[in-house]
Amino acid sequence: MTPPTPIIGVIGLGTMGLGIAQVYAAAGFPVIATDAHAPARDSARDRMDQALAARVSAGKLTEAARAATLSQLTIAGTLAEFAPCDLVIEAIVEERAAKQDLFRQLETILRPDGILATNTSSIPVRDIAAGLAHPARVLALHFFNPPSAMKLVELAPHDESLTQHINTARQITEKTGKTVIQCPDRPGFIVNRCARPFYGEALALLAEGRTPSDIDAAMLAAGYRLGPLSLVDLIGADINLAATRGMYAAMGNHPRYHVFPALEAQVAAGHLGRKSGQGFLHPAQPGPAPADAAEIALRIESTLINEAHWLLAEGGTTPDGIDTAMRLGLNFPRGPFEALALHGRPAVLQTLARLHAAAPQPLKARYTPAPGLA
Ligand SMILES: NC(=O)c1ccc[n+]([C@@H]2O[C@H](COP(=O)([O-])OP(=O)(O)OC[C@H]3O[C@@H](n4cnc5c(N)ncnc54)[C@H](O)[C@@H]3O)[C@@H](O)[C@H]2O)c1
Repeated sequence: MTPPTPIIGVIGLGTMGLGIAQVYAAAGFPVIATDAHAPARDSARDRMDQALAARVSAGKLTEAARAATLSQLTIAGTLAEFAPCDLVIEAIVEERAAKQDLFRQLETILRPDGILATNTSSIPVRDIAAGLAHPARVLALHFFNPPSAMKLVELAPHDESLTQHINTARQITEKTGKTVIQCPDRPGFIVNRCARPFYGEALALLAEGRTPSDIDAAMLAAGYRLGPLSLVDLIGADINLAATRGMYAAMGNHPRYHVFPALEAQVAAGHLGRKSGQGFLHPAQPGPAPADAAEIALRIESTLINEAHWLLAEGGTTPDGIDTAMRLGLNFPRGPFEALALHGRPAVLQTLARLHAAAPQPLKARYTPAPGLA
């Protein structure tokens, strides 16, 4: 007898929740979804249909698949309707108390083996689980925006998450075609943490007088689809600043996550990037690669390699996992461990030593090699 198809719950039908609901529904899972805001509930089916229709128009989806996906979606008016769910994913407001409160209500409704997953970007999973009667059923399933297009999902258990729940969440999510990478319950998980030096070292170069065009052109020449400053322009300098400040605070104000004044100045000036019409580079494109492009790329990649080794040293992940996450989460041409193989350890360590020697005193610790790298 084939086991029944797991039922997925999604709470919060904003940017992420609606996309997450679509991902599981498209894979044939029944999805029960809701939002605290009535207009978000009432419009959810139409919004998902519009997203599916765009894929039909682009020739990426058949009409039959569009209808089949929509038929899996049930919009609920109450949390009691989530009782049959095997896995509930919350994508509500990024506030610890709100997420804890929601999970506290859900654990009285779900079966004892029902999994509670959070899509949080910045709140420790163990903090969301704290105070629940069964914290072992809580873990993070961190999707990327837009969930339907981004292949990566970071799976972050906390110390008490049950292996059985970790495996079940992984198996169900892999059936949607996503690549699920396990990572520790650490700030920024893998991608948002290991990406920090991509922006940070570009901002350090900018502070030394290099132009945004030179920096981005160097990374394009090294195979990156977007340079770091163009990526800030795409994401929004305000979003990037908030993420940088959050990581800096979460990592005890370590200089590896230094908040560079140039980023704060962009936000203060309203030069947020594409959304404001003016960014570090936007609306311009990077010019030709400078003569020292390879040196700039080696510098940025050396700091990416170092950060990845610091994360690795904290446990709960693997070099392959980090590489895959960085390729899929950021469209990087190679992960940090692949970059290490490309450049060789001596070149990376020499680069870090040179940067350490040249850095102003408060920033020297940015370039201290991680235990597994030195
Ligand atoms: N936007 C991103 O790029 C991104 C990426 C990864 C993770 N996340 C995380 O996903 C979560 C949702 O982000 P988003 O960008 O989709 O936000 P959003 O503001 O677009 O949507 C949040 C939705 O949740 C609803 N909501 C708020 N409180 C609720 C509650 N108590 N019960 C039910 N519904 C409630 C809101 O009405 C809203 O529709 C956040 O935790 C965020 O950090 C966001």
